[in-house]
This record gives sequence, C-alpha cells and structure tokens, in this order.
Amino acid sequence: MSSWANMLEGKVAVVTGASRGLGRADALALAEAGADVVITDILIESDDDSKQEAQKLGPLSQVLQSTKVVYAEKTAQEIQAMGRRSFAIKMDVTDLEQVKEVFAKVKEEFGSLDILVNNAGTLDHTAQIEKQRDDFWERDLKVNLTGAYNCAKAVWPYMKEQGWGRIINMASVAGTLGGFGQSSYSTTKSGLLGFTKSLALEGARHGINVNAIVPGIIATEAFKMGNPKMNERMIERTAFKRPGEPEDIANAITFLCSDKAKYITGIGLNVSGGIELFTF
Ligand SMILES: NC(=O)c1ccc[n+]([C@@H]2O[C@H](COP(=O)([O-])OP(=O)(O)OC[C@H]3O[C@@H](n4cnc5c(N)ncnc54)[C@H](O)[C@@H]3O)[C@@H](O)[C@H]2O)c1
Repeated sequence: MSSWANMLEGKVAVVTGASRGLGRADALALAEAGADVVITDILIESDDDSKQEAQKLGPLSQVLQSTKVVYAEKTAQEIQAMGRRSFAIKMDVTDLEQVKEVFAKVKEEFGSLDILVNNAGTLDHTAQIEKQRDDFWERDLKVNLTGAYNCAKAVWPYMKEQGWGRIINMASVAGTLGGFGQSSYSTTKSGLLGFTKSLALEGARHGINVNAIVPGIIATEAFKMGNPKMNERMIERTAFKRPGEPEDIANAITFLCSDKAKYITGIGLNVSGGIELFTF
C-alpha cells in the first residue's frame, strides 16, 4: 500500500503551459508530492523571442508578457529548492517536432517520462459566431486540441515501454455546458473529453491512465483579466459563490497521477464548485 506522503516519488512529470496560472500550480503540487517536474511553455522569461510568441498567441499573452507574468524559470527554481529535479524549457505544443525533441531531452536527463499534464490552452477571447475571428478559431483548435494530441502521441512510446503512465487533459465546463461567445474554446474542450476516453481505452493494456479535469471558474491571472461582469455572473452560478483556487485543480491532478487513483481512467473530473448544478 503506497503512502500519501511523497506519493509521486521517483516519477518524472512534464506540464505544458506551466509559465503561470494552473500549469504553474500543478507543477508545484506534483513536485511537493515527490515528482521531478519539467516546466514547458511558449513563454519563458529568458527567451529573446517571447515578445513575438506573445504576439502570435493573442491579446492576453501580450499583456501578460509585457507585465512580466511569466514564471517558468522561477517555478523550476522553486521546485529545485524542494530537492526535486526541474528545468524550464520552451515548447510550443503545436509543433510536434519540438515536442518530440523536448521529451527526448527529458528522458535523457531524467531517465523516464511518467506524467504528462496537457494544460496549455487559450482563454483570451469571447465573441459570438458572426464576430468570431477565423484565425482565433484555427488557433484554439491547434493549441487546445492538436497540442494535446501532439504531446500524448509523443509521450506514448515512453509510457508504453515503462508499462506505467498518467496523462491529464485540461478540459473545462465550457466543454460540458457550453459558453456564450466561446464556440471555439468550448469545442476544443468538448473534444478533449472524447480524446480522453479513447486514449483511456487504448492505454489501459499498457498501464497508462488517461483522465481529464473539468475546471469551473478558477481565479488565475487569465480569469481575472476577463470581462468583470461576465466573471461575476459565472461566480454567482457556483454553489460556493466564489471561484476556485489553482491549488484545487492541482490537488485533483496530483491524486489522479498517483497509484491511489490506479483504477480511475477515462473520466472528466469536475473541479467546479458545483457550477453545473441546478441552483435556484
Ligand atoms: N482559469 C480558469 O478558470 C479555467 C477554467 C477552465 C479551464 N481552464 C484551462 O486550464 C488551462 C490553464 O488555464 P489558466 O487559467 O492557467 O490560463 P493561462 O493563460 O494563464 O495559462 C495557459 C498557458 O498556456 C500557454 N500556452 C498557450 N499557447 C501555448 C502553446 N502553443 N504551447 C505551449 N504553451 C502555450 C500560455 O503561455 C500560458 O502560460 C487552460 O487549458 C484552460 O483552458 C482554465
């Protein structure tokens, strides 16, 4: 029987989009549970090209880049200070070749690749269908859906060979409930739930568990920069009448990555403060 303390000791995790927000919190929680953690993102503090990358990513990333809300390297240092191995590396999830290169480096340096958290995502715009920008539609599909596919595909051979793996896909209640003005975003998040179930079926024979987290409203920088009136309305819909904290997501992920959750696969776990419940 494994113990709750250090339940991820000896495991190596890669978190995508971990420069801030939920990805950063996930990385810290996995490290606290004993894992070595590689921080990947398209925005890294020391990267000379990060302004251009932020430009490509859209309005939110431009603001966060210019206000220096990028903590990939700081997070890696915090993890090292806990006594775990960690490094931060630039990785665009839409670039399969780059993903393969980074994973090969992780395997070479840390010896295995046990946990993948597909967290990278775009949540920077809302627009009704007639005003939806076509390039943002394409980008959302590419980052949120193809990005998760690329990373899962690239990590699969390592996990299969080890006979053990955990993949967590970051969905959203926008994918289960829909979201006004969020056609592209919610399409990708629904898609991730189907992707999770199919991979869970394929992974079971190899010891690879694949699950999704379905967050509700979580108080990250990205959320705080959203439309205040819309945010208020969403908070009002939760049973708790408050947004969740990044740690609420990170705790659920840590559990799902552990052997405590070895019989759980193919689920979408709501961590949503009951936003999907019928309240009146
Ligand atoms: N915050 C919420 O309320 C909430 C709710 C539901 C789901 N989610 C999901 O959780 C995840 C994290 O959300 P967050 O609130 O921390 O947002 P965030 O914008 O702070 O984090 C997303 C990260 O992904 C990175 N990224 C974007 N495109 C990338 C690419 N091509 N390659 C690599 N990295 C890339 C960004 O640079 C950023 O660091 C997202 O998938 C989001 O859809 C968040």
